[in-house]
Amino acid sequence: MLRFPDYVQVLVTGGAGFLGSHLCDRLIGDGVAVICLDNFYTGTRRNVAHLLDNPMFELVRHDVTFPIYLEVNQIYNLACAASPIHYQFDPVQTTKSSVHGAINMLGLAKRTRARILQASTSEVYGDPDLHPQPESYWGRVNPIGPRACYDEGKRCAETLFFDYHRQHQLLIKVARIFNTYGPRMHPNDGRVVSNFIRQALGNEPITLFGDGSQTRSFCYVTDLIEGLVRLMATPDAVTGPVNLGNPGEFTVRELAEKVIALTGSRSRIESLPLPPDDPKQRQPDIGLARKTLGWEPKVALDEGLRRTIEYFDRVLAAGRKSG
Ligand SMILES: NC(=O)c1ccc[n+]([C@@H]2O[C@H](COP(=O)([O-])OP(=O)(O)OC[C@H]3O[C@@H](n4cnc5c(N)ncnc54)[C@H](O)[C@@H]3O)[C@@H](O)[C@H]2O)c1
Repeated sequence: MLRFPDYVQVLVTGGAGFLGSHLCDRLIGDGVAVICLDNFYTGTRRNVAHLLDNPMFELVRHDVTFPIYLEVNQIYNLACAASPIHYQFDPVQTTKSSVHGAINMLGLAKRTRARILQASTSEVYGDPDLHPQPESYWGRVNPIGPRACYDEGKRCAETLFFDYHRQHQLLIKVARIFNTYGPRMHPNDGRVVSNFIRQALGNEPITLFGDGSQTRSFCYVTDLIEGLVRLMATPDAVTGPVNLGNPGEFTVRELAEKVIALTGSRSRIESLPLPPDDPKQRQPDIGLARKTLGWEPKVALDEGLRRTIEYFDRVLAAGRKSG
Protein backbone atom coordinates (compact mmCIF):
# COMPACT_ATOMS: atom_id res chain seq x y z
CA MET A 1 0.00 0.00 0.00
CA LEU A 2 1.31 3.51 -0.85
CA ARG A 3 1.89 5.63 2.23
CA PHE A 4 2.11 9.40 2.10
CA PRO A 5 3.97 11.17 4.90
CA ASP A 6 0.91 13.12 6.05
CA TYR A 7 -1.54 10.23 5.67
CA VAL A 8 -3.21 9.40 8.99
CA GLN A 9 -4.95 6.05 9.36
CA VAL A 10 -6.65 5.80 12.72
CA LEU A 11 -7.91 2.65 14.40
CA VAL A 12 -10.80 3.07 16.87
CA THR A 13 -11.45 -0.11 18.86
CA GLY A 14 -14.95 -0.19 20.33
CA GLY A 15 -15.81 2.22 17.53
CA ALA A 16 -19.44 1.09 17.22
CA GLY A 17 -20.15 1.89 20.87
CA PHE A 18 -21.40 5.08 22.46
CA LEU A 19 -18.14 7.03 22.75
CA GLY A 20 -16.43 5.21 19.88
CA SER A 21 -19.09 6.15 17.32
CA HIS A 22 -18.89 9.83 18.29
CA LEU A 23 -15.11 9.63 18.01
CA CYS A 24 -15.45 8.09 14.50
CA ASP A 25 -17.81 10.95 13.54
CA ARG A 26 -15.33 13.50 14.78
CA LEU A 27 -12.33 11.95 13.03
CA ILE A 28 -14.19 11.49 9.73
CA GLY A 29 -15.33 15.13 10.06
CA ASP A 30 -11.66 16.09 10.44
CA GLY A 31 -10.88 14.31 7.13
CA VAL A 32 -9.03 11.41 8.72
CA ALA A 33 -9.25 7.78 7.50
CA VAL A 34 -10.81 5.57 10.18
CA ILE A 35 -10.90 1.83 10.77
CA CYS A 36 -13.65 1.12 13.29
CA LEU A 37 -13.14 -2.23 15.01
CA ASP A 38 -15.85 -3.77 17.16
CA ASN A 39 -17.28 -7.18 18.12
CA PHE A 40 -20.75 -5.61 18.69
CA TYR A 41 -20.87 -6.91 22.26
CA THR A 42 -22.52 -3.71 23.53
CA GLY A 43 -22.13 -1.56 20.42
CA THR A 44 -24.14 -1.74 17.24
CA ARG A 45 -23.75 -1.18 13.49
CA ARG A 46 -26.63 1.32 13.80
CA ASN A 47 -24.31 3.73 15.65
CA VAL A 48 -22.06 3.99 12.60
CA ALA A 49 -24.59 3.16 9.82
CA HIS A 50 -24.41 6.76 8.54
CA LEU A 51 -20.63 6.36 7.97
CA LEU A 52 -20.68 3.06 6.07
CA ASP A 53 -20.78 4.65 2.60
CA ASN A 54 -17.93 7.03 3.36
CA PRO A 55 -14.75 5.89 1.53
CA MET A 56 -12.65 7.13 4.47
CA PHE A 57 -14.47 4.75 6.84
CA GLU A 58 -14.06 1.00 7.27
CA LEU A 59 -15.91 -1.25 9.73
CA VAL A 60 -14.22 -4.44 10.94
CA ARG A 61 -15.89 -7.07 13.14
CA HIS A 62 -13.18 -8.34 15.48
CA ASP A 63 -12.65 -9.14 19.15
CA VAL A 64 -9.65 -7.30 20.63
CA THR A 65 -8.83 -10.29 22.83
CA PHE A 66 -7.35 -11.80 19.63
CA PRO A 67 -4.40 -10.24 17.77
CA ILE A 68 -4.99 -8.40 14.50
CA TYR A 69 -2.64 -7.14 11.78
CA LEU A 70 -3.50 -3.72 10.35
CA GLU A 71 -1.47 -0.78 9.08
CA VAL A 72 -2.29 2.24 11.23
CA ASN A 73 -0.51 5.22 12.73
CA GLN A 74 -2.89 6.07 15.58
CA ILE A 75 -4.92 3.78 17.83
CA TYR A 76 -7.71 4.81 20.18
CA ASN A 77 -8.38 1.76 22.39
CA LEU A 78 -11.97 1.98 23.62
CA ALA A 79 -13.12 -1.64 23.32
CA CYS A 80 -14.61 -2.76 26.64
CA ALA A 81 -18.14 -2.98 28.01
CA ALA A 82 -18.47 0.08 30.20
CA SER A 83 -21.66 -0.03 32.26
CA PRO A 84 -21.91 -2.24 35.37
CA ILE A 85 -24.82 -4.29 33.96
CA HIS A 86 -22.86 -5.02 30.80
CA TYR A 87 -19.42 -5.59 32.29
CA GLN A 88 -20.75 -7.78 35.12
CA PHE A 89 -22.70 -10.00 32.69
CA ASP A 90 -19.48 -11.82 31.70
CA PRO A 91 -16.80 -10.57 34.09
CA VAL A 92 -14.06 -12.85 32.75
CA GLN A 93 -14.60 -11.49 29.22
CA THR A 94 -14.50 -7.95 30.70
CA THR A 95 -11.06 -8.51 32.20
CA LYS A 96 -9.91 -10.19 28.98
CA SER A 97 -11.14 -7.26 26.86
CA SER A 98 -9.16 -4.83 28.99
CA VAL A 99 -6.01 -6.87 29.56
CA HIS A 100 -5.68 -9.06 26.44
CA GLY A 101 -7.14 -6.17 24.43
CA ALA A 102 -4.41 -3.84 25.73
CA ILE A 103 -1.68 -6.43 25.05
CA ASN A 104 -2.90 -6.95 21.48
CA MET A 105 -3.33 -3.26 20.70
CA LEU A 106 0.01 -2.35 22.28
CA GLY A 107 1.61 -5.14 20.21
CA LEU A 108 0.05 -3.62 17.10
CA ALA A 109 1.29 -0.15 18.10
CA LYS A 110 4.78 -1.56 18.67
CA ARG A 111 4.88 -3.16 15.22
CA THR A 112 3.47 -0.14 13.37
CA ARG A 113 5.07 2.50 15.67
CA ALA A 114 1.60 4.01 16.03
CA ARG A 115 0.75 6.30 18.92
CA ILE A 116 -1.86 4.71 21.12
CA LEU A 117 -4.46 6.16 23.48
CA GLN A 118 -6.16 4.14 26.20
CA ALA A 119 -9.72 4.90 27.31
CA SER A 120 -9.17 4.36 31.02
CA THR A 121 -11.67 5.30 33.65
CA SER A 122 -12.32 7.14 36.89
CA GLU A 123 -13.12 3.66 38.26
CA VAL A 124 -9.34 3.16 38.69
CA TYR A 125 -9.81 5.42 41.75
CA GLY A 126 -12.35 2.95 43.22
CA ASP A 127 -14.30 4.31 46.19
CA PRO A 128 -11.99 7.28 46.73
CA ASP A 129 -11.07 8.74 50.11
CA LEU A 130 -9.76 11.85 48.35
CA HIS A 131 -12.10 14.27 46.69
CA PRO A 132 -11.90 15.50 43.92
CA GLN A 133 -9.44 12.95 42.52
CA PRO A 134 -6.19 14.20 40.95
CA GLU A 135 -4.19 11.87 38.66
CA SER A 136 -1.58 11.40 41.40
CA TYR A 137 -4.14 9.58 43.61
CA TRP A 138 -3.58 5.80 43.52
CA GLY A 139 -7.15 4.82 44.28
CA ARG A 140 -9.04 2.57 46.69
CA VAL A 141 -10.26 -0.45 44.73
CA ASN A 142 -11.70 -3.69 46.10
CA PRO A 143 -9.83 -6.32 44.06
CA ILE A 144 -12.38 -9.11 44.67
CA GLY A 145 -15.74 -7.32 44.43
CA PRO A 146 -18.21 -7.44 41.52
CA ARG A 147 -16.78 -4.25 40.00
CA ALA A 148 -13.18 -5.54 40.09
CA CYS A 149 -13.33 -7.16 36.62
CA TYR A 150 -13.69 -3.66 35.19
CA ASP A 151 -11.70 -1.58 37.70
CA GLU A 152 -8.74 -3.95 37.98
CA GLY A 153 -8.86 -4.76 34.25
CA LYS A 154 -8.51 -1.06 33.47
CA ARG A 155 -5.78 -0.64 36.11
CA CYS A 156 -3.81 -3.51 34.60
CA ALA A 157 -4.28 -2.00 31.12
CA GLU A 158 -2.73 1.26 32.42
CA THR A 159 0.19 -0.78 33.84
CA LEU A 160 0.71 -2.41 30.45
CA PHE A 161 0.63 0.97 28.68
CA PHE A 162 3.30 2.39 30.96
CA ASP A 163 5.46 -0.75 30.75
CA TYR A 164 5.33 -0.69 26.92
CA HIS A 165 6.25 2.98 27.12
CA ARG A 166 9.23 2.37 29.43
CA GLN A 167 10.36 -0.91 27.85
CA HIS A 168 9.62 -0.29 24.16
CA GLN A 169 9.45 3.55 23.98
CA LEU A 170 5.87 3.45 22.70
CA LEU A 171 4.08 6.78 22.39
CA ILE A 172 1.21 6.31 24.82
CA LYS A 173 -1.64 8.52 26.04
CA VAL A 174 -3.88 7.48 28.93
CA ALA A 175 -7.21 9.25 29.48
CA ARG A 176 -9.12 8.61 32.71
CA ILE A 177 -12.68 9.21 31.63
CA PHE A 178 -15.37 10.21 34.13
CA ASN A 179 -19.15 9.63 33.65
CA THR A 180 -20.03 10.69 30.13
CA TYR A 181 -23.51 10.80 28.65
CA GLY A 182 -25.26 11.71 25.41
CA PRO A 183 -27.06 10.32 22.36
CA ARG A 184 -26.24 6.65 21.47
CA MET A 185 -25.89 5.56 25.08
CA HIS A 186 -27.50 2.15 25.33
CA PRO A 187 -31.03 2.76 26.73
CA ASN A 188 -30.80 -0.39 28.92
CA ASP A 189 -27.24 -0.06 30.14
CA GLY A 190 -28.39 0.65 33.70
CA ARG A 191 -26.32 3.85 33.86
CA VAL A 192 -27.90 6.60 35.89
CA VAL A 193 -28.58 9.07 33.04
CA SER A 194 -30.06 6.49 30.63
CA ASN A 195 -32.10 4.87 33.43
CA PHE A 196 -33.62 8.13 34.57
CA ILE A 197 -34.43 9.35 31.05
CA ARG A 198 -36.01 6.03 30.05
CA GLN A 199 -38.05 5.89 33.25
CA ALA A 200 -39.13 9.55 32.96
CA LEU A 201 -40.17 9.19 29.31
CA GLY A 202 -42.26 6.14 30.27
CA ASN A 203 -43.74 7.95 33.32
CA GLU A 204 -42.38 5.04 35.41
CA PRO A 205 -40.97 5.51 38.94
CA ILE A 206 -37.43 6.90 38.91
CA THR A 207 -35.28 4.54 40.96
CA LEU A 208 -32.55 6.05 43.14
CA PHE A 209 -29.97 3.89 44.89
CA GLY A 210 -29.88 4.80 48.59
CA ASP A 211 -31.16 8.27 49.41
CA GLY A 212 -29.69 9.76 46.20
CA SER A 213 -27.20 11.92 48.09
CA GLN A 214 -24.20 10.28 46.35
CA THR A 215 -22.68 12.70 43.87
CA ARG A 216 -21.63 12.25 40.26
CA SER A 217 -20.20 14.51 37.57
CA PHE A 218 -21.63 14.29 34.06
CA CYS A 219 -19.66 15.17 30.94
CA TYR A 220 -21.43 15.62 27.61
CA VAL A 221 -20.07 13.34 24.90
CA THR A 222 -18.80 16.00 22.44
CA ASP A 223 -16.78 17.64 25.22
CA LEU A 224 -15.21 14.30 26.08
CA ILE A 225 -14.35 13.53 22.45
CA GLU A 226 -12.67 16.93 22.11
CA GLY A 227 -10.52 16.01 25.13
CA LEU A 228 -9.51 12.64 23.61
CA VAL A 229 -8.56 14.20 20.27
CA ARG A 230 -6.52 16.91 22.00
CA LEU A 231 -4.74 14.34 24.15
CA MET A 232 -3.80 12.28 21.08
CA ALA A 233 -2.34 15.45 19.50
CA THR A 234 -0.08 16.32 22.46
CA PRO A 235 3.74 16.19 22.12
CA ASP A 236 5.39 12.77 22.45
CA ALA A 237 6.45 13.41 26.04
CA VAL A 238 2.85 13.72 27.27
CA THR A 239 1.66 10.30 28.41
CA GLY A 240 -1.01 11.14 30.97
CA PRO A 241 -2.84 9.79 32.79
CA VAL A 242 -5.12 12.77 32.31
CA ASN A 243 -8.56 13.07 33.90
CA LEU A 244 -11.29 13.99 31.43
CA GLY A 245 -14.70 14.79 32.81
CA ASN A 246 -16.93 17.57 33.96
CA PRO A 247 -16.11 18.86 37.44
CA GLY A 248 -19.68 20.15 37.96
CA GLU A 249 -20.98 17.98 40.81
CA PHE A 250 -24.64 16.98 41.26
CA THR A 251 -26.36 14.57 43.62
CA VAL A 252 -28.12 11.72 41.90
CA ARG A 253 -31.38 13.09 43.35
CA GLU A 254 -30.75 16.47 41.67
CA LEU A 255 -30.21 14.67 38.37
CA ALA A 256 -33.52 12.81 38.78
CA GLU A 257 -35.33 16.09 39.47
CA LYS A 258 -33.76 17.75 36.38
CA VAL A 259 -34.76 14.84 34.14
CA ILE A 260 -38.34 14.94 35.45
CA ALA A 261 -38.51 18.70 34.80
CA LEU A 262 -36.98 18.50 31.28
CA THR A 263 -39.21 15.63 30.15
CA GLY A 264 -42.34 17.03 31.81
CA SER A 265 -42.78 13.53 33.25
CA ARG A 266 -45.31 12.37 35.84
CA SER A 267 -42.69 9.99 37.35
CA ARG A 268 -42.19 9.82 41.12
CA ILE A 269 -38.82 9.18 42.80
CA GLU A 270 -38.33 5.78 44.57
CA SER A 271 -35.37 4.51 46.63
CA LEU A 272 -33.66 1.11 46.20
CA PRO A 273 -30.86 -0.39 48.39
CA LEU A 274 -27.33 0.74 47.50
CA PRO A 275 -25.38 -1.89 45.47
CA PRO A 276 -22.00 -3.06 46.93
CA ASP A 277 -18.96 -0.86 46.18
CA ASP A 278 -21.10 1.96 44.73
CA PRO A 279 -18.86 5.06 44.99
CA LYS A 280 -20.31 7.79 47.24
CA GLN A 281 -18.61 10.65 45.46
CA ARG A 282 -17.06 11.06 42.06
CA GLN A 283 -15.65 14.32 40.74
CA PRO A 284 -12.65 14.86 38.48
CA ASP A 285 -9.87 17.28 39.18
CA ILE A 286 -9.25 18.51 35.61
CA GLY A 287 -6.39 20.90 36.41
CA LEU A 288 -3.94 18.81 34.35
CA ALA A 289 -6.28 18.65 31.31
CA ARG A 290 -6.77 22.43 31.51
CA LYS A 291 -3.00 22.96 31.61
CA THR A 292 -1.75 20.38 29.08
CA LEU A 293 -4.70 20.29 26.66
CA GLY A 294 -6.20 23.76 27.13
CA TRP A 295 -9.43 21.77 27.56
CA GLU A 296 -12.51 22.05 29.68
CA PRO A 297 -16.13 20.99 29.16
CA LYS A 298 -18.44 23.51 27.49
CA VAL A 299 -21.89 21.88 27.39
CA ALA A 300 -24.02 22.57 30.48
CA LEU A 301 -25.92 19.66 32.06
CA ASP A 302 -29.37 21.02 31.12
CA GLU A 303 -28.37 21.41 27.45
CA GLY A 304 -26.72 17.99 27.28
CA LEU A 305 -29.72 16.35 28.93
CA ARG A 306 -32.07 18.05 26.46
CA ARG A 307 -30.12 16.60 23.48
CA THR A 308 -29.95 13.16 25.11
CA ILE A 309 -33.68 13.17 25.93
CA GLU A 310 -34.46 14.05 22.29
CA TYR A 311 -32.40 11.04 21.15
CA PHE A 312 -33.97 8.61 23.65
CA ASP A 313 -37.45 9.86 22.76
CA ARG A 314 -36.78 9.09 19.07
CA VAL A 315 -35.16 5.68 19.69
CA LEU A 316 -37.77 4.50 22.19
CA ALA A 317 -40.65 5.64 19.93
CA ALA A 318 -39.08 3.77 16.96
CA GLY A 319 -38.73 0.67 19.18
CA ARG A 320 -42.44 0.84 20.19
CA LYS A 321 -43.49 1.18 16.52
CA SER A 322 -41.41 -1.81 15.36
CA GLY A 323 -42.19 -3.99 18.39
N1 LIG B 1 -19.12 6.32 28.92
C1 LIG B 1 -18.46 6.57 30.01
O1 LIG B 1 -18.95 7.28 30.89
C2 LIG B 1 -17.08 6.01 30.23
C3 LIG B 1 -16.41 6.35 31.44
C4 LIG B 1 -15.15 5.84 31.66
C5 LIG B 1 -14.52 5.06 30.72
N2 LIG B 1 -15.17 4.75 29.56
C6 LIG B 1 -14.47 3.87 28.62
O2 LIG B 1 -14.68 4.29 27.29
C7 LIG B 1 -14.79 3.15 26.43
C8 LIG B 1 -16.09 3.24 25.63
O3 LIG B 1 -17.18 3.23 26.53
P1 LIG B 1 -18.69 3.46 26.05
O4 LIG B 1 -19.38 4.21 27.11
O5 LIG B 1 -18.70 3.95 24.68
O6 LIG B 1 -19.24 1.97 26.14
P2 LIG B 1 -19.91 1.05 25.01
O7 LIG B 1 -20.25 -0.25 25.69
O8 LIG B 1 -20.96 1.79 24.29
O9 LIG B 1 -18.68 0.84 24.02
C9 LIG B 1 -17.76 -0.19 24.11
C10 LIG B 1 -17.59 -0.79 22.73
O10 LIG B 1 -16.58 -1.79 22.77
C11 LIG B 1 -17.05 -2.94 22.08
N3 LIG B 1 -16.37 -4.10 22.66
C12 LIG B 1 -16.49 -4.62 23.90
N4 LIG B 1 -15.67 -5.66 24.05
C13 LIG B 1 -15.01 -5.80 22.88
C14 LIG B 1 -14.02 -6.70 22.42
N5 LIG B 1 -13.54 -7.67 23.20
N6 LIG B 1 -13.56 -6.56 21.15
C15 LIG B 1 -14.04 -5.58 20.33
N7 LIG B 1 -14.97 -4.70 20.72
C16 LIG B 1 -15.44 -4.81 21.99
C17 LIG B 1 -18.54 -2.96 22.32
O11 LIG B 1 -19.26 -3.73 21.37
C18 LIG B 1 -18.86 -1.47 22.21
O12 LIG B 1 -19.12 -1.08 20.89
C19 LIG B 1 -14.71 1.91 27.32
O13 LIG B 1 -13.40 1.42 27.28
C20 LIG B 1 -15.01 2.45 28.69
O14 LIG B 1 -14.39 1.70 29.70
C21 LIG B 1 -16.44 5.20 29.32
